[in-house]
Amino acid sequence: MKIEILVNGVLYKREVSPDQRLLDFLREDLGLKGTKQGCDQGECGACSVILNGKVVNSCLILMVQLPLQSEVETIESTDSIVLSLQDSFVENGATQCGACTPGMIMASAALLTEKPQATEQEIREGLSGVICRCTGYQKIFDAIKNTQRRM
Ligand code: FES
Ligand code: FES
Repeated sequence: MKIEILVNGVLYKREVSPDQRLLDFLREDLGLKGTKQGCDQGECGACSVILNGKVVNSCLILMVQLPLQSEVETIESTDSIVLSLQDSFVENGATQCGACTPGMIMASAALLTEKPQATEQEIREGLSGVICRCTGYQKIFDAIKNTQRRM
């Protein structure tokens, strides 16, 4: 099937298999390896990207399921909130092994875009779909609050 899809502001026109996953399209077809592959079952959130403004697990989405004229943002995005979050995560020591970091940042970016002044409780709920095994989460929450102060 032929698709047209906007990824990080770039329009791609490609021939894809309908049952290809969005995760594999991003990583293999477009070479955007920043989006991580974890559980493949919608449990870990490592593969989170923003699809038409909402955070989704790209491992669970088939290309045939994409709405027409879809827009995707990944960790390679140059969106100002994504870039600010990347800086804050580094400055606050909010990343260790890094497996969850792209998913954490994209989930945070979706939340802060919709709700710039999200409360700590809302931040915790917004990130509940992404699992971190390393940081204990507090530094991640601190990094997001740091970004909120900058916005
Ligand atoms: S790899 Fe998609 S949720 Fe874990
Ligand atoms: S930094 Fe290792 S899983 Fe989050």
